[in-house]
Amino acid sequence: MEAEFWHERWSRGEIGFHQGEVNPLLAAHFEQLALEPGSRVFIPLCGKSLDMVWLLAQGYQVVGAELSELAVRELFETLDIQPEISSVGSLKHYQGEGVDIYVGDIFDLTRGVIGQVDAVYDRAAMVALPRELRVRYSSLLLALSYAPPQLLITYEYDQSAMAGPPFSVSAEEVNQHYSYHYQITCVESVEVLMKGKVTAIETVWLLM
Ligand SMILES: C[S@@+](CC[C@H](N)C(=O)[O-])C[C@H]1O[C@@H](n2cnc3c(N)ncnc32)[C@H](O)[C@@H]1O
Repeated sequence: MEAEFWHERWSRGEIGFHQGEVNPLLAAHFEQLALEPGSRVFIPLCGKSLDMVWLLAQGYQVVGAELSELAVRELFETLDIQPEISSVGSLKHYQGEGVDIYVGDIFDLTRGVIGQVDAVYDRAAMVALPRELRVRYSSLLLALSYAPPQLLITYEYDQSAMAGPPFSVSAEEVNQHYSYHYQITCVESVEVLMKGKVTAIETVWLLM
C-alpha cells in the first residue's frame, strides 16, 4: 500500500485495525518467547497499539516503526510520556523511558539505527502489506533483528472474497519467509469474522 493510503486512514480515523484493549493472543502466548526481563521487543508497523503499553507494563523495552506521526503522538499521550524527538536520516525518532519509535517508512530503517532487538511481535504488520512487499518486509525484519524469537499473527481467508488489508497469508507463505531461519510452530488458531463478512482463520505462530 502507498504511504498516502495509511496517512488518510489515520487522518480520517478509519482505523478499524486498532484494538481498544490488549490483544488476548499476545497476553496468552508471549511468555513462550522465554525472554529475559528488560528484553527489547521490536513492533513493526506498530500504530498506537495498546499491546506496546502491555509489553512496557511487563517490564520489556519497546522499539517500534510507524508511518503515521499522528499515531505515534497518540501513543505517547496514552503512555503519558513526553517524548524527546530527533531526526535520523529520513526518519523521526520519538524516545521515552523504555520506548523508541521510528516514524517513517520501515524500509528506511537500518540495524545501525534500531540497535539491539531481542524479540519481534508482529500483529497486523505482515498482513497489512501486499504480497510483493511481504517478501521485502520479511527480509528486512531478518536484517534488522537477526532472527530473534518472534510471535507472529496472521489471517488466512479466501482473498477473492475481500480485498486486503488485512491480506490473507497462508501457512505455506509463513514457511517461505521464515523456515530457513526459524523453527515455526502454530500455537493457536481461531475462526474470526473479518469486516463482518468473511470468515478467516487467525493463527498465532511462534518462531524460535
Ligand atoms: C493494520 S495497521 C496495524 C497497526 C498495529 N500493528 C496494530 O496492531 O494496531 C498497519 C500500520 O502500519 C503502518 N504502516 C504501513 N506501511 C508502513 C511502512 N512502510 N512503514 C511504517 N509503517 C507502515 C500504518 O500506518 C498502520 O498504522
